[in-house]
Amino acid sequence: MAHTTVTTTAFTDQKPGTSGLRKKVTVFQQANYLENFVQATFNAIGDCVGKSLVIGGDGRFYNQTAIQIILKMAAANGFSQVWVGQNGILSTPAASCVIRKYQAFGGIILSASHNPAGQDGDFGIKFNTSNGGPAPESITEAIFENSLTIKDYKISNDADIALDEIGSKELSGMTIDIIDSVSDYADLMETIFDFNQIQDLLAKDSFSMRFDAMHAVTGPYAKEILENRLGAEKGTVINGIPLPDFAKGHPDPNLTYAEELVAEMFSDHAPVFGAASDGDGDRNMILGANFFVTPSDSLAILAANADLVPAYKDGLSGIARSMPTSQAADRVAEKLGIEAHETPTGWKFFGNLLDADRATLCGEESFGTGSNHIREKDGLWAVLFWLNILAARSQSVADIVSQHWQTFGRNFYTRHDYEAIPNAEAEQVMQHLEDQLPTLTGKTFNGRTVSYADNFSYHDPIDNSVSSQQGIRIGFDGGDRIVYRLSGTGTEGATLRVYIESYEDDKAKLLDDTQQTLADLIELADSLAKIVDFTGRTTPTVIT
Ligand code: G6P
Ligand code: ZN
Repeated sequence: MAHTTVTTTAFTDQKPGTSGLRKKVTVFQQANYLENFVQATFNAIGDCVGKSLVIGGDGRFYNQTAIQIILKMAAANGFSQVWVGQNGILSTPAASCVIRKYQAFGGIILSASHNPAGQDGDFGIKFNTSNGGPAPESITEAIFENSLTIKDYKISNDADIALDEIGSKELSGMTIDIIDSVSDYADLMETIFDFNQIQDLLAKDSFSMRFDAMHAVTGPYAKEILENRLGAEKGTVINGIPLPDFAKGHPDPNLTYAEELVAEMFSDHAPVFGAASDGDGDRNMILGANFFVTPSDSLAILAANADLVPAYKDGLSGIARSMPTSQAADRVAEKLGIEAHETPTGWKFFGNLLDADRATLCGEESFGTGSNHIREKDGLWAVLFWLNILAARSQSVADIVSQHWQTFGRNFYTRHDYEAIPNAEAEQVMQHLEDQLPTLTGKTFNGRTVSYADNFSYHDPIDNSVSSQQGIRIGFDGGDRIVYRLSGTGTEGATLRVYIESYEDDKAKLLDDTQQTLADLIELADSLAKIVDFTGRTTPTVIT
């Protein structure tokens, strides 16, 4: 068990963000940078002796290099067992699945999600706990504290391990099992959905589907599940080979970045159903022929149709959504007579609710949807859920969505992002809003009266922890809402996100255009925050 204790100096910038530590690859390549963070994580865990870990990533550049370092450090710190996805590959939901299935102590996931990859791109690392979910803030804070005071780290002197052959190996006394990256996850999906019903749907001549893996991790998962197990036509999955630089793309499944899929789905030869997932496989975008389903609507529709899916047919315990996600799901929860929860942005906040069975389905406006089957959001799970609904209802995506609006009304919703703003300018916008909060309630703008204005604080009902400063909310009588927050996942400057929502139940207006319907609220959002004045930006970089 020969290992070395290496003396190191602390870095001051290793504070995990919304989803782990994300930095440019070149930052991670600095001497001791990754090692410090990994040792800080192990120090935060405390006694690692005899414990087990799952390790895998989205296959981006630096994935395997990082895994070799982490394996040697895990061995030197006393871990006894590690499961690694073959070739270092595990999508984020698959990692969560494997942690739970093998009852591992935790997991380390290497990913910067949808951020561009490659030598000049981003890399990321995060720690998940034994429930399969992202570490809560108490642990990420402890990791950060440790990273600030670290003086040395431990690393095995053994040689690299081959990651391409499935089977058991040993490194400095630690057992390493290289496992198939896909099968445990695919088996879990078979226990949730009605695969026979979906198979019948996919076999119909009238049905057609496209899934865009965006050159990232979901390719092998989608091919195994959709094409091999469910019999979808070969070629259903496009861009299905994961590349270390994601083909220089930006694997974020939204209308801006999933260009190839969007072009096909909004053409005269559009398939009936289209979907995409992101770099590490936890996000999803759902499309019908010439039709886009917002993630907020998708959550509400999955909840309203959950009784069609075997795993949820006995009912849901509750629905949770992140604060900026539209309130559409709350209306479904109300009708079903179940709890509705509003949490801060970040999947980790759903963990306690899922563990305590206070929520079964969760979703975020940022193209994340999932359930209690694992503790991460899950892109392919959402796609299979939609396929199960389409199979059971024999209707188009557009018909299912518009019928939902007929029943529940529609929460018109848009998010405007201003990316890569200098930090100081973004802070000015937020400060200007913060300064107005005490005086906004009761004021009327364009006929809308402010009913509340605050900076969102979340009180976790399970562990009573409080997370404050989670985004500025301005709510109006009747449910309209403007939310502002700074992204916690960017790596360049700041990204200001403005979320705008308006409820409509007039049946004649349900199919109106979103940007037009929201135009006056969008204008109000801009003028309240003085976005143009502070940032000089007249248009958002991305609209979802
Ligand atoms: C990641 C997290 C999500 C979160 C999203 C948006 O994908 O896993 O839970 O909603 O980032 O974060 P941001 O801070 O960039 O708005
Ligand atoms: Zn992701």
